[in-house]
Amino acid sequence: MFQSLKPLPADPILSLMAAYREDDNPLKVDLSVGVFKTASGDTPIFNAVKLAEAHRLETETTKAYIGMAGTPGYNSTMLDLLLGKGHEVIKDGRVASMLAPGGCGALRVAAELVKRSKPDATVWVSDPTWANHVPLIGGVGLELKSYPYFDRDTHGVKFDEMIATLETLGPDDLVLLHACCHNPTGADLTPQQWDIIADVAARRGFIPFLDSAYQGLGIDLDADAYGVRKMAATVPEMILAASCSKNFGLYRDRVGLVAFITSAIQQPATEANLKSIARGMYSMPPAHGGAVVEYILSTPALKADWQAELVGLCASINTSRQVLAKGLTAAGVPGQFDWLMENRGMFSILDLSKDQIRRLKDEFSVYIVGSGRINLAGVTAGNINYLAASIAKVHE
Ligand code: LMR
Repeated sequence: MFQSLKPLPADPILSLMAAYREDDNPLKVDLSVGVFKTASGDTPIFNAVKLAEAHRLETETTKAYIGMAGTPGYNSTMLDLLLGKGHEVIKDGRVASMLAPGGCGALRVAAELVKRSKPDATVWVSDPTWANHVPLIGGVGLELKSYPYFDRDTHGVKFDEMIATLETLGPDDLVLLHACCHNPTGADLTPQQWDIIADVAARRGFIPFLDSAYQGLGIDLDADAYGVRKMAATVPEMILAASCSKNFGLYRDRVGLVAFITSAIQQPATEANLKSIARGMYSMPPAHGGAVVEYILSTPALKADWQAELVGLCASINTSRQVLAKGLTAAGVPGQFDWLMENRGMFSILDLSKDQIRRLKDEFSVYIVGSGRINLAGVTAGNINYLAASIAKVHE
């Protein structure tokens, strides 16, 4: 039965996490998987999460199923966070949403619904995009194509080329856009660029498919949602997949949201199909993380506490950007690094060849994803000298 299965190459991101754990070099540096870390290398639990969990432990009275869509309170507080309280698409009853097992679960459910509704649709992803977008979305059998995005010379966005491609698309196409903190490049769209894309989407009729996995880690909660809110206000139909892994630090609890914005008439059928897809895949989402998020977002003191801690995480990543730019320059690594301060979120791409990335891992225990993507949260005042010197060595 299973003899036809062949061994597979390791996951390009998660395999590095395991290799780093096994490395006993005391100087090792992990810039691989997108997990926030403090200067001492820990990924602490948000204080508001701890308090919400304590409250939940005390007050939870049953483990009976919560239902396929998750609780109404989770869905509405998350939609307020993403779309802004009182967004017209919420007031007009145009949103069908569901608690999903992580951002990945949200992306997969969304792709399954697209496949069910329009099997011959094409999903356009940025060049490059997060490696796992390909199996999550392409894995349902939808065709994937890429649009120009990252400019390797400036480390910004090739906006004119991107728009030229989007101008050729139509109602059979979906365009996957990173809401903020583009993974893997850190090259984000400006509000003016979002305005232009929203106009092109409305005119050409393609469906924007927004992935919001880092809200609050780029600029702030509202600025990072500009594209989501603008798009929702402009187009008749769009998809939103969101993750609470990074901005609530709930990685392993798997908390996300999938939302389809459609017409008020089409909303009930969309919601029914979302639920039936969940039922056929995993039946019901895990309850714990969603309940924690709902309690934080609906309790003003906890929400303020969470937001303050999130502001700290964002500031810490931006400090790491400066530390890295200064450190690389001081170590004599060729190039200039101002773009590091212009990129947003956890990631940027360093100009390194495959061989340099391999040498950094094998000779210096510095772990970087094969594309050259680095997680800035792993750069600290404590490791910058070793890190920059190692990068300088592989350039000799
Ligand atoms: C990443 O991009 O490193 C994270 O989103 C974790 C993952 O699942 O790849």
